[in-house]
Amino acid sequence: MYRSRLDGKLDDVTLEFLSSISDDFVIAQYDILGSQAHTLMLLENKIINRKETIKILNALERIKKENISEKSEAEDIHELIESLVIKKAGKEAGGKMHTARSRNDQVALDIRMKIRDDINVVCFCLNQTIETLIDLAEKNQRVIMPLYTHTQQAQIGLFSHFLLAYADALFRDLDRFYVAYGRVNESPLGAGPVGGTSIPIDRQFTAKMLGFKGLVENSIDATTSRDFVAEYIGHAAILMTNLSRMAEDFIIWSTSEFSFIELADRFTSTSSVMPQKKNPDVLELIRGKTSQVIGYQMSVLSNLKGLPSGYNRDLQQIKVSIWPTSKIIISSLLVANSLLKTMKVNEKKLRKAIDGGYSISLDIAEALVRKGIPFRTAHKIVGNMVQIASNSKKPLSALSVNEVKTVISGNEIEPRELHKIIQSTTPESSLETRKSQGSAGKHEQQRMIADRKRKVQAYITGTNKRTSETREAIEVLNGKVLSLIKNKG
Ligand code: ARG
Repeated sequence: MYRSRLDGKLDDVTLEFLSSISDDFVIAQYDILGSQAHTLMLLENKIINRKETIKILNALERIKKENISEKSEAEDIHELIESLVIKKAGKEAGGKMHTARSRNDQVALDIRMKIRDDINVVCFCLNQTIETLIDLAEKNQRVIMPLYTHTQQAQIGLFSHFLLAYADALFRDLDRFYVAYGRVNESPLGAGPVGGTSIPIDRQFTAKMLGFKGLVENSIDATTSRDFVAEYIGHAAILMTNLSRMAEDFIIWSTSEFSFIELADRFTSTSSVMPQKKNPDVLELIRGKTSQVIGYQMSVLSNLKGLPSGYNRDLQQIKVSIWPTSKIIISSLLVANSLLKTMKVNEKKLRKAIDGGYSISLDIAEALVRKGIPFRTAHKIVGNMVQIASNSKKPLSALSVNEVKTVISGNEIEPRELHKIIQSTTPESSLETRKSQGSAGKHEQQRMIADRKRKVQAYITGTNKRTSETREAIEVLNGKVLSLIKNKG
């Protein structure tokens, strides 16, 4: 439709190569809404008349309900929809729809509308998953387990502490998306191909109709920039790495060696050959799909880095990274949320895991510090004790006074007193005395749970408000379109 300046028709292979149509159906509905807002603006500013407007809007309404995804000669969704409008509304009216607009501001608009909706869905899913983690933390505040560094037992902890750690990481993801929304929610429409237009359009009008908070004002910036896409996919990649870490913990913890947790059957798969298998495939796929999203981020950034200002066709390839990214992050959050809700926590196994280890060591060293012994000396004393205990394969609490005596080089502490400290330092006392902010301490769990419950409510309210603001704007737009069409007489 656009090739009057050029000779020759595109052959099938070249058309297929150039075309983005198969990637564009995702944004077809946004393209129609954008065209309706643009058409209403053209009427409002007397650029087209009422009769023409009605014809165009009517055609667009009909296209909305049609299945337009069959094979077409169009290069992209913008061409396809415009050609359908011209077919339905006639050249006279339909041919005016694209006045004072370009596919360059149009495609930027469609992508922004799609990401805007996706961010709202992602925030909704994040809110849900965070709420589930907080609920689960509340239920597991007394479930004692080892904490790990280097995948080796480190300190005594609580299962709730892990869950809250995942929740806090997801809170940061949530906040990243939440803030990015403001930068996405600006309208590029009316920027034209790159430098604006001489036709007296009103960019604020279309922005408001489509529920945008403002404009991407500079027309070069509006048509060139895809940093909002890089930002969105970057945040998605970080979110996935956080989910992937949680998935990895759960994969390890659901092995028969650990058995800390048991996944509900519906989140696992079995083997085609080994009948006993219960594989954590859903978690493995969260891990696997993470690398895909990281790949999409690389793809977008490397696409952008060498482009000059102004629209370049390379930008077309960016869309292919957005849609699957949204699909992956939304579905990962949905399955993670259901998996968390249904997983069984094996309290006894978690508690038992600390028995064979020495994760109480730092607590004993700190008890010595509270007696006035320098930390380095305390570290040495306890280190020596662990060596003796571990050589004879027993816990620290099984050391005799005589054994304890051998680790004290000077007169820092009486062997009996040290022995008493070892006896009275238990996992329970450890969690009672751990008071530092954010620690595994019992009281800190309670405080953090209450605090995070309040925090998530604020995001839930904000997400709901935004979602309904956008929905309402589109409803108003639809209402205007329908009332014009109905009152056409
Ligand atoms: N199909 C293009 C894309 O997805 C739309 C914009 C085309 N603009 C142009 N001047 N060729 O990016």
